[in-house]
Amino acid sequence: MINFSLMGAGRIGKMHAKFIAAHPKAKLKYVYDVNSQFNEEVAKSTGCSIASSPEEAINTDDVDAVLIASATPTHTQFITMAAKAGKAIFCEKPIDLDINKVNECMENIKGTNVPIQIGFNRRFDASHSKAQQARVKKEIGELEMVIITSRDPEPPGIEYLKAAGGFFRDCTIHDFDLTRFILGDDDPVVQISAFGGALFDKNSQQVKDQDTAMFILKSKKGVLIHINNSRRAVYGYDQRVEVFGSKGMVISNNQTPTSLERYTSASTNEKEPIHFFFIERYEQAYRDQFNEFIKSVENKTKPLVGFEDGRNALIIANAAYESFESGKVIDIKF
Ligand SMILES: NC(=O)c1ccc[n+]([C@@H]2O[C@H](COP(=O)([O-])OP(=O)(O)OC[C@H]3O[C@@H](n4cnc5c(N)ncnc54)[C@H](O)[C@@H]3O)[C@@H](O)[C@H]2O)c1
Repeated sequence: MINFSLMGAGRIGKMHAKFIAAHPKAKLKYVYDVNSQFNEEVAKSTGCSIASSPEEAINTDDVDAVLIASATPTHTQFITMAAKAGKAIFCEKPIDLDINKVNECMENIKGTNVPIQIGFNRRFDASHSKAQQARVKKEIGELEMVIITSRDPEPPGIEYLKAAGGFFRDCTIHDFDLTRFILGDDDPVVQISAFGGALFDKNSQQVKDQDTAMFILKSKKGVLIHINNSRRAVYGYDQRVEVFGSKGMVISNNQTPTSLERYTSASTNEKEPIHFFFIERYEQAYRDQFNEFIKSVENKTKPLVGFEDGRNALIIANAAYESFESGKVIDIKF
């Protein structure tokens, strides 16, 4: 049995609590959040204890692994504490918004040798990972283009935007990681050009963030990648990936809750709306990423997506900001 402490019991923390509690090889021992109501909700639904401090949750012999789902600025502190205590770590993306804090954390945990998995859940989506496999197995011949569309259903509130670190570090970071996953380690992205604007969301305008963005990237081998993002899509959470090569194309398409189609005098092929947002759309991916974490802790193997992947995605996001602000194509250096 792998005993867990959960740091942070907000939106995504509550989902992780559910997965830990449901897994036959895992047990949620402690939850720690600065919000006591959230602690009580998780304790009630899972039977775990409430820790009164991060130290009580992490520096305890009856815990093997720490799942960090608290607000982003707390991640490096909790990673460092957990690594020094010898615990396996699952940490939500991003590691931090500041590359200096990420580098400092990397230095601080050097030599601790604990498994660290970062929550880039899209790698575990069954359709996206089949698209990646089509590249690996050369089903589409030589890879030439990757096109990623990722649009949220609606923008978040202003308080979220103030703390999120900007659209590219908050949202596009998933697409930068997905790009790295599809291309593979031997073909890193080397250049980026970014455009963005606050076209419709007053809160984004107020905090000088973007709500709409487009990126072109180029890989070392010359593959061209296009990413487009929006904070609003009136038809739901729009998640599509197209992988194109010399022998064809694969598309990981949007998903609807059921496969029902309606045919009436007014329309044909009418389907119900696609999933509303990430918790519904990526449920299978979140569950499978947790299952993989359990396997890597159990078998003492390296997690499929680690600290270095989190750091590299942030480096691309930073290069995207440099391009957006300067209007230039930026070379990416990892
Ligand atoms: N992988 C994904 O798809 C995905 C989706 C959503 C959020 N996230 C990430 O998960 C993290 C949490 O996001 P969320 O949407 O659940 O936010 P949220 O605001 O709903 O939850 C964050 C929780 O952290 C708690 N917290 C703040 N400071 C704390 C501290 N010092 N110690 C303990 N708890 C503390 C807050 O009280 C809150 O309950 C963020 O890093 C976010 O980027 C990832």
